[in-house]
Amino acid sequence: MLSTRFTDLVGCSVPIQQAGMGDLANPRLAAAVADAGGLGMVSVYGYPPDLIADVLDRLRHQTAGCIGANFIMLFVDPDQAHECVAAAASKVRVVDFFHTDPDAVLVEIVHNHGALACWQVGSKEEAEAAVAAGCDFIIAQGIEAGGHVRGRIGLLALLSEVLDTVDVPVLAAGGIGTGRAMAAALAAGADGVRVGTRFVVAEEAEAHPTYINALIEARPQDTVYTEAFGVGWPPPDAPHRLLRSCLQAAESFQGEIVGEGMDYYTGERFPIERFHPIGVTKSYTGAIEAMSLWAGESVGGVKKIESAADIVRDMAGEAERLLRRWR
Ligand SMILES: Cc1cc2nc3c(=O)[nH]c(=O)nc-3n(C[C@H](O)[C@H](O)[C@H](O)COP(=O)(O)O)c2cc1C
Repeated sequence: MLSTRFTDLVGCSVPIQQAGMGDLANPRLAAAVADAGGLGMVSVYGYPPDLIADVLDRLRHQTAGCIGANFIMLFVDPDQAHECVAAAASKVRVVDFFHTDPDAVLVEIVHNHGALACWQVGSKEEAEAAVAAGCDFIIAQGIEAGGHVRGRIGLLALLSEVLDTVDVPVLAAGGIGTGRAMAAALAAGADGVRVGTRFVVAEEAEAHPTYINALIEARPQDTVYTEAFGVGWPPPDAPHRLLRSCLQAAESFQGEIVGEGMDYYTGERFPIERFHPIGVTKSYTGAIEAMSLWAGESVGGVKKIESAADIVRDMAGEAERLLRRWR
């Protein structure tokens, strides 16, 4: 088994963190990843503290494995921010932050409630800030990543800078969808990998079939790094990576509402504006092909629908075999 400083710290057996991915990273997916030995994550931003506590409490009873909660603080009510983070930290092993500057107060709340804190960063400077804020580990995200992208350079170049700068365990994120890519990140010195796109097609993620098929068909060169899907995201010029086909479909779509979505936890339905960034689950209706179909360059590793456990086993097994060649 691949044991690293990350697996020792968190207590999981496989150095794979499944990315929090809005509604696509639901408790079923997180529990399946955790059962398979990885760190399973759910995104809990946008909800009040009692709902966060309830969701995570139920998740805790679904798996004995390692679970965590993901926050993008831009979408957390500032009046409830500390309570939300405290509610999460009291239920899970890891509380994970992305897309705002590292914040020592939030990290302290996480620690005070018995969890580990981590921050996904896109530069050496941000990595230093996360460590100064007290994070227990960090995630270095390269420009190859799917979803919103904080990194501005390739993952290996970023890892080289970050690993030379910080002492805490570092996970690598962006473009890692195979055991081969995972082995490369570990060989470069990362303590594990964070994987998003490949888990979107996991049976448990409940992505929309049109989205799943588009990912299976796509190759790495079919993704695009853009700021186009900026509606409702503060600030709107936040770069992200998704399938070029959905950008083209949105550009040529006639009208401003592309379809309807549904909140995973509340069941509330809402209209989706053209260029609004969302995670397209099977409950969405309308012009799915013109919605934000997030994809990293890791999409080359997406070949079929499979269980989260098979994805974890496949990636970790291949990485281990490749790394053994050099021992
Ligand atoms: C569908 C999708 C949704 C994402 N949503 C989030 C999110 O809600 N929170 C977050 O911290 N990162 C999010 N990310 C980014 C991931 O944390 C991670 O950086 C990325 O998936 C790594 O690249 P990969 O997709 O090539 O594996 C998302 C990524 C994808 C693909």
